[in-house]
Amino acid sequence: MTFKKHILCIGAGYVGGPTMAMIAYKCPHYKVTVVDINPTRIAEWNSDDLPIYEPGLDKIVKSTRGKNLFFSTEIERGIKEAEIIFVSVNTPVKTFGAGAGMAADLQYWEKTARQILKCSESSKIIVEKSTFPVRTAFAMERILSLTENDIHFDVLSNPEFLAEGTGIKDLEYPDRVLIGSRETPSCVKARDELIEIYSNWVPKDHIITSNIWSSELSKLVANAFLAQRISSINSFTAFCEKSEADITEVARAIGMDSRLGNKFLSPSVGWGGSCFKKDILNLVYLCRHYGLDEVANYWEAVVSINEYQKERFVLNMLSAMFNTLAGKKICLLGFAFKADTGDTRESPAIFIARKLIEEKAELLITDPRALNNAKIDLNGIDGKISYIEDPYEASDGCDAIAVMTEWEIYKSLDFEKIYRSMVKPAFIFDGRNMLNHKRLFDIGFNVFPIGKPSLTHF
Ligand code: NAD
Ligand code: UGA
Repeated sequence: MTFKKHILCIGAGYVGGPTMAMIAYKCPHYKVTVVDINPTRIAEWNSDDLPIYEPGLDKIVKSTRGKNLFFSTEIERGIKEAEIIFVSVNTPVKTFGAGAGMAADLQYWEKTARQILKCSESSKIIVEKSTFPVRTAFAMERILSLTENDIHFDVLSNPEFLAEGTGIKDLEYPDRVLIGSRETPSCVKARDELIEIYSNWVPKDHIITSNIWSSELSKLVANAFLAQRISSINSFTAFCEKSEADITEVARAIGMDSRLGNKFLSPSVGWGGSCFKKDILNLVYLCRHYGLDEVANYWEAVVSINEYQKERFVLNMLSAMFNTLAGKKICLLGFAFKADTGDTRESPAIFIARKLIEEKAELLITDPRALNNAKIDLNGIDGKISYIEDPYEASDGCDAIAVMTEWEIYKSLDFEKIYRSMVKPAFIFDGRNMLNHKRLFDIGFNVFPIGKPSLTHF
């Protein structure tokens, strides 16, 4: 079969894999290849057991793979063949040198840019899909302009806004697709080509364009605003616990104000995920670079409140359980950073687990999708930790349960059975406010929600 276009994506991760699968699914006339330096990851994409869990992903990968969607480690070949290249490599926080702990580590994209330059034999459109610091496109253009052949690269910014767990829905029905470009005739033509791809399934009025720096910045600002909203509601959970106000009632009351809206107001043990923290710290770093210290401090506080929330959760457990956790068995219900994903990157559960181990508690961790990642995250920690798929088995004989992830299945657990199997007094710390607290109290549990009065039998 001859394809209308050859699309390549460099980076077969949480973004590259699902995004390209959606393009292949919606555009059978394009050939889409996803490449990665990690051969294990590529082998998993080519297997029945995909490397990431995302509801709906299996179906679209299986219906396109081998037809117009291909996963490969042949990066050079992919670059040569492609007319459009999406760059979806990781952009973690730098762990060394200047800006360590704040700035984005750009070694992966720079290697990618240089490889594109080295292997290209024809002009191409380069699409920044990863989340990059503002003005990365400029650096990318500089590297790609070093070509000695008569070829040309147009760099576009097309940040991804999908959230894990709802990634497929977000890709199929995006609130918006943002494309940033320069206004040169060549860039405008490249932008039109990218618009044409998305137009295969996204309504035209949901595809918006902007200048390239606004596009890069919008991605960081969107994540900063989202995280800020959760930090804001979480900051008031601390206030509620002191004042006997109830955060659920407060969230409902403010969420009905149409100017505020009711989304992203669920209090939690803290927000996690691979991006919020790194993107805000990157924003803070950029602000300081531009001499905007007040702006930097403002956004840094969003991260500080999140650290405070996780710390507070453990201190509340300690104080409720008579100020000692040593030798006590604690079941962590969930380990993923949110429901419907196996991803544990920056999951609050990692922090909580480490702190509980420091207190010499014994941990029994259960999660329907994230146990393998949990084992990697806690590898080498000096303490007693078991990983158990069955939540009944995991909570058997425990002193306390701490809810880390809002998996729907936890709502329908038989808590009477669980209570019977636990050491008394039995405690539940609901880090997601997802359980029926009154019912748990009636069963006999001492219940500690977030941002509302605790229900105790003593
Ligand atoms: P990831 O770590 O899951 O995937 C990145 C992949 O890139 C890895 O498999 C890695 O091996 C590969 N890679 C790195 N350097 C390479 C190279 N030189 N050549 C080929 N492959 C290379 O990361 P992710 O979660 O997919 O995130 C990718 C980018 O998308 C980040 O910038 C992130 O901020 C952004 N983003 C992520 C999400 C999300 O939900 N995870 C959502 C929106 C945006
Ligand atoms: C987030 C953004 O929502 C995406 O738009 C963005 O593309 C992505 O980051 C990214 O750049 O990586 P994601 O981290 O996958 O997506 O998931 P979210 O739904 O945003 O949840 C993030 C964290 O906040 C989770 O730990 C979640 O449990 C927590 N959260 C979310 C709350 O504690 N309360 C809420 O009300 C909502």
